[in-house]
Amino acid sequence: MGYPKLLLVIITNWMVLQCTAQIDAYHYQSQKKVVSQNGAVVCAHPLASKAGSNILKQGGNAIDAAIATQLALAVVYPGAGNIGGGGFMVAHLKNGQNITIDFREMAPSKASRDMYLDSAGNPLMQLSQDGHLACGVPGTIAGLFAAMKYAKLPFKTLIQPAIDFAEKGFAITAHQANDLNGLKKEFLQLNLAPTAFTKNKQWKAGDTLIQKDLANTLKRIRDNGAKDFYEGETAKLIAAEMEKGKGIISMADLKNYTAKERAPLEFDYKGCHIVTMPLPSSGGIIMEQVLKMISDKNIAALKFQTPASVQLLTEAERRAFADRAEFLGDADFVKVPVATLISDKYITARMKDYVPGKAGSSTTTKAGTIKESEETTHLSILDKEGNAVSVTTTLNGGYGSRTVVTGAGFILNNQMDDFSVKPGVPNMYGAIGAEANAIAPGKRMLSSMSPTIVLKNNKPYLVVGTPGGTTIPTSVIQTIINIVDFGMSPMDAVNKPKFHHQWLPDEINVEEDFNATTITGLEAMGYKVTKRGQIGRTEIIMITTKGTIKTITAVGDKRGDDDAEGN
Ligand code: DON
Repeated sequence: MGYPKLLLVIITNWMVLQCTAQIDAYHYQSQKKVVSQNGAVVCAHPLASKAGSNILKQGGNAIDAAIATQLALAVVYPGAGNIGGGGFMVAHLKNGQNITIDFREMAPSKASRDMYLDSAGNPLMQLSQDGHLACGVPGTIAGLFAAMKYAKLPFKTLIQPAIDFAEKGFAITAHQANDLNGLKKEFLQLNLAPTAFTKNKQWKAGDTLIQKDLANTLKRIRDNGAKDFYEGETAKLIAAEMEKGKGIISMADLKNYTAKERAPLEFDYKGCHIVTMPLPSSGGIIMEQVLKMISDKNIAALKFQTPASVQLLTEAERRAFADRAEFLGDADFVKVPVATLISDKYITARMKDYVPGKAGSSTTTKAGTIKESEETTHLSILDKEGNAVSVTTTLNGGYGSRTVVTGAGFILNNQMDDFSVKPGVPNMYGAIGAEANAIAPGKRMLSSMSPTIVLKNNKPYLVVGTPGGTTIPTSVIQTIINIVDFGMSPMDAVNKPKFHHQWLPDEINVEEDFNATTITGLEAMGYKVTKRGQIGRTEIIMITTKGTIKTITAVGDKRGDDDAEGN
């Protein structure tokens, strides 16, 4: 072998080694911002971002990286990352095509409209939130396999980091130790067998979490595909768990589950083209309604988080959430007047009674008149070919139903609570609903998750999303407005305090560090302002081009262990 050829072999081997370098699961830190040229991965846990970033380095595209990141999150971020839950993927492919995959959970065939009401018709919220009866049929594995048609690498490569983290363990963060300690009693109460999530002593940062049963489940999925989860050994373990715990998901329910590709919801806002999730997420419709309601009002001139600009957004949110409660549900089951809700005529009429400087009221503002018949997680990924992927996925509440499938090692969701258990009764996020979101067998519960891609000239500009229940669309909207209207950097757009209004309760929720003068100004207009914990944990990638130089900036929210990796 000649000298140049030998050199080439050495360099190539070195590069492969770098690309497949083992991730040190015991020593890692969150990196909040990265600037890169060839791609980026940002999500809620550093180990999962690194797993996704390694896949990009191995020649995978953004879809490959999204699959690997999601699977890794199911292990290293078990409070929300999942294989026992569901979610949505929005992607912009390098050929210009925009796609979405709906892998939302569905109600089991034995589910019924009043299943969470007692004989007097009173809601039994514990049943829709805790334990076996709270679980919808999980969609994540079906969703990831549906995405494989856009991937390049074999599934076994994409699932391997997750298997390694589960089998060999990883060091948990301080946040995770805190969560697990806080939930110990519930894990013990809601499970029929010991789980990996409790131990005799208190958890502390740096402790190793090993999930052997989960590793075996992931290996079965690696070897037998989605069939293992929906018809094979894992399906049997889920059905057995349900029987033991008086849940209602059957083998037939699992077999009947399908992920669905849906046409994205797309609309324009101030020179940007927004691509986001349609029903069964309410997020896209809320975003379109709110952004259209404010689009002729020059929010930039009102300035960032002044009483006037907060009021404008609040009044738009009030109207959009009133419509959500009345009209929105799984459009495969109920007729939803989507075209009307987002039409210019309707939007203009909705804002007719908006009075600058004076608080509106949710007693007088109801849903419009139509004349026609806190744990979720997000990942944003961009590759060097120009594919962009935005995925929000959830178990619903933190650690979902807190019920682990015995022998399979993963946590099941408590997504049934996202249905309207009774008209007018708030769910765990305070969202109320009506007939459109009533429980029915096979129906998907209404979501707020809003994985979003903003395009400029048909190229990805922002890849963005967040957890946060009903605050999801309002956080994504604020992040977009912060950049598009207020000209902020992605770091500021994500980390500046956020606020939220969802029609009922009729109050503006603000984060602890929200501007005090603005609060006083809003109160003077007649608003009730309430401080609350963190709103969202937004992950964003922004792509800008100057001449021929493309700059990718990825930012993970300061509110958690979120981490951005560049390629
Ligand atoms: O689908 C939904 O809208 C909810 N299940 C999301 C829950 C959530 O974001 C919790 N996160 N903090």
